[in-house]
Amino acid sequence: MSGFSAEWLARREPYDGRARNRDVLESVAAAAVTAGDAIGVVDLACGIGSTLRALAPRLPPRQDWRLVDNDLSLLARAAAGKAVPGVAVTRIPVDLTRDLEAALDGPVNLVTASALLDLVSADWLERLVTEVAARRLPFYAALNYDGRVVFDPVDPLDSAVIAAVNLHQQTDKGFGPALGPRAAEAAIAAFERAGYAVVHGRSDWQLLPRDRDIQRDMLAGWAGAAREIGAVSLPDAAAWLTRRRDLLAAGRSTITVGHVDIFARPIGTRAAERSQSKSTSSPIG
Ligand SMILES: C[S@@+](CC[C@H](N)C(=O)[O-])C[C@H]1O[C@@H](n2cnc3c(N)ncnc32)[C@H](O)[C@@H]1O
Repeated sequence: MSGFSAEWLARREPYDGRARNRDVLESVAAAAVTAGDAIGVVDLACGIGSTLRALAPRLPPRQDWRLVDNDLSLLARAAAGKAVPGVAVTRIPVDLTRDLEAALDGPVNLVTASALLDLVSADWLERLVTEVAARRLPFYAALNYDGRVVFDPVDPLDSAVIAAVNLHQQTDKGFGPALGPRAAEAAIAAFERAGYAVVHGRSDWQLLPRDRDIQRDMLAGWAGAAREIGAVSLPDAAAWLTRRRDLLAAGRSTITVGHVDIFARPIGTRAAERSQSKSTSSPIG
């Protein structure tokens, strides 16, 4: 168990799908065209496979997906639905803190991840960028939480709760002290240092009054995190949660949750890449 339930991942998927930055997605799709009519993709920390569902319709017709996660129950549910002609899926149990390199080996043209980078440490991110860059692979990372949360209407304790949540986001999530809200910024800088061109854009969730279930989950999670980190007292966190739930019940709560998507691709001419790449797989781009 990773602490991410299949139910939670299923609940967030439609919001992620709507929020994914269209310009970034277009860049991924445009780069994928250069792979020809077949592409190999590794999705790191796939959960129940939402990146596959979001990206597959934009990629060449023949696709070979390797879905990687260390949570066997999520992996079992990943892409368990209807088979799509031309899209082959292999599910691989991997602990990315230990075996990242193995996950990236083999015939791969594109590496993807969603809602992962904010969980990882600066050291692990450097390791990821090094390994991806060593293979000259492009990298698409969506839905990286960036610390912005806007409530409407506002409550006097919102800022204190979200500041506490953002501290909690930086605690160890299994990869060492997490980057949390700094993840996208750090990934953009690291890929640029590695000689990549990076496109990025916001992919904020816009939660409307009718989005009650996900708002309820988020509010409870934020109150718990704020209390756990100790920056907001238990009575304050409880009172804040009650007030926000009352607004939600009254159909008056909207929340924006900030995310950033990135697509990083190695800079270089296709001719140069082709002459360098004699292996079975070549990067797209
Ligand atoms: C927030 S979920 C995102 C899941 C999916 N990418 C999505 O967008 O719905 C984070 C995922 O990271 C996986 N994960 C956490 N630590 C991991 C590790 N050490 N190795 C592999 N996967 C890990 C979890 O099991 C979970 O599926």
